[in-house]
Amino acid sequence: MEYKVIAIDGPAGAGKSTIAKLVAERINYTYIDSGAMYRALTLKILDSNIDLGDTDAIVEISEKVDIDFENKSIYLDGEAVDKQIREERINKNVSTVAAIPEVRKNIVALQRKISYGKNVIMDGRDVGTVIFPNAFLKFFITASLEERARRRYLEILSTGKTADLQDIKSQIEQRDYVDTHRADSPLIQADDAILIDTLGQSIEEGVQELMKYIRLHGGFVDAL
Ligand code: DC
Repeated sequence: MEYKVIAIDGPAGAGKSTIAKLVAERINYTYIDSGAMYRALTLKILDSNIDLGDTDAIVEISEKVDIDFENKSIYLDGEAVDKQIREERINKNVSTVAAIPEVRKNIVALQRKISYGKNVIMDGRDVGTVIFPNAFLKFFITASLEERARRRYLEILSTGKTADLQDIKSQIEQRDYVDTHRADSPLIQADDAILIDTLGQSIEEGVQELMKYIRLHGGFVDAL
């Protein structure tokens, strides 16, 4: 049997992971969050008190790190770290770690290994350009900076916390900058990726748009 990969790339906060998870459930594919792997690595680096300027030490950790997914949780060295990888200190530092070419080489190898022998939907920044250039279907999901910041702001408020919209906007802007300007595997839309703009779109509308293309290209299983 030939396994399929659906690649979803795009900037932070565009709705990639929410849409990807729902599509994966509906077509019975395994969802893999490639950004979560850079986040788990960043968590390990920060908890090991390694200086973010110490590239050699960071690369060394990336060679040996044990990151895996099980039952929709991400495990770092055998421990579930779903909550920790979403902390502010990770948001602030993950782009720096992900910009190191040797780190990317090691994590990309891990991302391919984890996907082996499965039908996979993976989201990130370089899934369709670098990790799986031969993916069967590629999407580039985006929305304006204002819209992405607004969504993140509302998400934080919904948890009962306070937030500053301008702060969030400049943080996302900064991550966008690092992700799109790094020398190795910058965030770009693959030539053969389908562009989806989620501005003004509900989550379900986004899911339906992807499903339409997946059906069209025959990437479905019996459930469809
Ligand atoms: O999708 P996310 O916000 O959880 O990603 C966290 C960081 O990891 C993001 O700033 C860029 C990096 N990343 C990457 O370089 N390549 C990927 N395939 C996924 C994420």
